[in-house]
Amino acid sequence: MSSKKASFPQDFLWGVATSSYQIEGAVNEDERGPSIWDTFSATLGKVHNGESGAIACDHYHRWEADLDLMQKLGVNAYRFSTAWPRIMPNGTGPVNKKGLDFYDRLVDGLLGRGIKPFCTLYHWDLPQTLEDKGGWLNRDIVAAFVDYADVVTTKLGDRVLAYATLNEPWCSAHLGYGTGHHAPGIADTAKSLQAAHHLLLAHGSALSVMRRNAPKARHGIVLNLYPAQPASDSAQDIAAARRLDGFFNRWYLDPLFKGSYPEDAWAGYGESVPSLQDGDLQTIAAPMDFLGVNYYTRSLVADKESGDWPRVRAVTVPDAEYTEMGWEVYPQGLTDLLLRLHKDFRSLPIFITENGSAFADVLENDRVHDSARLHYLESHLEAVNEAIAQGVDVRGYFAWSLMDNFEWGHGYAKRFGLVYVDYETQKRVLKDSARWYSDFILRQQERAVLP
Ligand code: FCB
Repeated sequence: MSSKKASFPQDFLWGVATSSYQIEGAVNEDERGPSIWDTFSATLGKVHNGESGAIACDHYHRWEADLDLMQKLGVNAYRFSTAWPRIMPNGTGPVNKKGLDFYDRLVDGLLGRGIKPFCTLYHWDLPQTLEDKGGWLNRDIVAAFVDYADVVTTKLGDRVLAYATLNEPWCSAHLGYGTGHHAPGIADTAKSLQAAHHLLLAHGSALSVMRRNAPKARHGIVLNLYPAQPASDSAQDIAAARRLDGFFNRWYLDPLFKGSYPEDAWAGYGESVPSLQDGDLQTIAAPMDFLGVNYYTRSLVADKESGDWPRVRAVTVPDAEYTEMGWEVYPQGLTDLLLRLHKDFRSLPIFITENGSAFADVLENDRVHDSARLHYLESHLEAVNEAIAQGVDVRGYFAWSLMDNFEWGHGYAKRFGLVYVDYETQKRVLKDSARWYSDFILRQQERAVLP
């Protein structure tokens, strides 16, 4: 992208993102309690190669060097998550000072290097003790989450620029309780929808406490959103795409922004719909300061005549490029998505809280020539730029991820990092994409100071 064309605002956040379980390791240290991902990873056949986050990138010990690396890259923001089981090992009750202090030091370390902290409170590592009581299926979890949010925001306060309550509740609910591909590994549609409801309720219930503790910070949520597009212009495929939009996007956006579940999806789910209590939807729709958008690909679908709602069949495009995850590289989808959010939902400042790609990297002579990732990054930044030019209020971009890490059910087989991690030695090596991003940020910042 030519820096001439770029119209990113002067105070745009140029960031990288990670999450606690994917990078920290040190799962048995400083009185951290077990999480559902420790349990899930230890269950035969759940994670590729039987891998786990037990060591991961050893970031819990190497955090200072990792912050130095970020400073070297020139990013001005970092999205990380706090680990609930490190801070409250039993999920509720006593706070583990050592766990909380880790994030206290991390935040000061970021600020000291001129990097703005963006904190996600829940990026999937639920304390196992809470799962033992039903996890996200037990409505009591809402109060537990509010207590946890209270503890974290009291400690970190306004030093953090923005707090997201949840990362991708669709994944926690659907993959965790609907298909069983993620922890805790339950496969039941009705349960996934009940879990989704409690996740949203926990989000809405925590906001006022978070605002009280950190009045200058911004408060919001991070959603994974997919433009759902029909594979043909037949009425059936268009209707299928609309159903998929209900399943992925509107099931979360509508309650958050409109205080109601989408009628078509509600009807489609039939008996599986969640039970609600009076006032729940009002709580969920509590005003936010931003929406965090995670975008990786679009969903291209055709109608499927039978099967469970939303009855769609994924369609691949013969000549398109696909990442190692099997996800189509489709930057236009990010522009489409941002314009759609702007048009259909209350216009809030948006952060692109994740965007990135996994490709098979080769480390050779201390270099990784990841031109496919570099191109993905460049074309998606271009797509963000296009949306800004068309009036969408995007305030920042966080590349997923700072470094290769534990990719959930895929273990260490999928590398999303801008920085390569040699898991044998824990050595970090800047990939070409990292060098490009660093240079791009520098050019943007130079542009910003020129008259
Ligand atoms: C997102 C997750 C993140 C990472 C990327 C590839 O769904 O939020 O942790 O796994 O996908």
